[in-house]
Amino acid sequence: MSVTLAKTAGFCFGVKRAVNMVYDEIGKGSVFTYGPIIHNEEVVADLKARGVDVIQTLEDERLVPGVSVVIRSHGISREEYETLERKGVRIVDATCPFVKKIHKIVEAQALEGRSIIIIGNDRHPEVEAIKGWCKSPVTVIETIDEADRFRAAESEKLCIVSQTTFNYNKFKDLVEIISKKGYDIRCLNTICNATEERQTEARQIAARADAMIVIGGRHSSNTQKLYEICKNECENTYYIQTLNDLDLAKVKSMSNVGITAGASTPNNIIEEVHKACLK
Ligand code: F3S
Repeated sequence: MSVTLAKTAGFCFGVKRAVNMVYDEIGKGSVFTYGPIIHNEEVVADLKARGVDVIQTLEDERLVPGVSVVIRSHGISREEYETLERKGVRIVDATCPFVKKIHKIVEAQALEGRSIIIIGNDRHPEVEAIKGWCKSPVTVIETIDEADRFRAAESEKLCIVSQTTFNYNKFKDLVEIISKKGYDIRCLNTICNATEERQTEARQIAARADAMIVIGGRHSSNTQKLYEICKNECENTYYIQTLNDLDLAKVKSMSNVGITAGASTPNNIIEEVHKACLK
């Protein structure tokens, strides 16, 4: 039996950086993260055990001057940032630099008079935050149908950006549909390379595998996308959170097994699954 572990499985640069920034804050007084730092219940539980609490709203009474608030890699809107400043908390900004770049792009493009189109999932916190940096009209497009239905005024200038974790091929398809409508469009592919590389490697491994294991949190959208990609190539694709969810006997009856993991899956979980498959 051969087991191939994707080199790009697990934490990307931005998530690694954000998680390290939280751990660095421990012991420096009260520390909160605004939303869970990553989509991984185990990491969040470990942080809680070390005194780091999650706040869900900026109305939280514990936000008093001097406490630390870590902004996660998804980023926050300008308005939320300003609220935190007003409250006098210590802001530890762990927004991924690639996401920060999108905030700067949409701000600048709006100033140039362009309306913004974000290719992504409207309910994703990263997209919600990006919307909060657009001072011009903003539309979020996720599906072919939405792209088909999109209309702007003839004189409207547009700027298209993408959620960092969006599927590259889907992005291209949606941009193509919008481009055919003849507007003045500036398109910036802001998909993060970490995602592209992880998706490409997962596709290649899944295409050769009899069984493919995708490890990641239930709510992690990038893990869900990895699962979709792998399932397309390999019928026996399993989506698991930890080793406990895996039917090892089934996997071990296969001769060629692949493993990948979403951007917020800690290394120890990946290693545990990898080792169990090798045993
Ligand atoms: Fe950043 Fe890319 Fe990760 S945008 S948070 S390095 S997926």
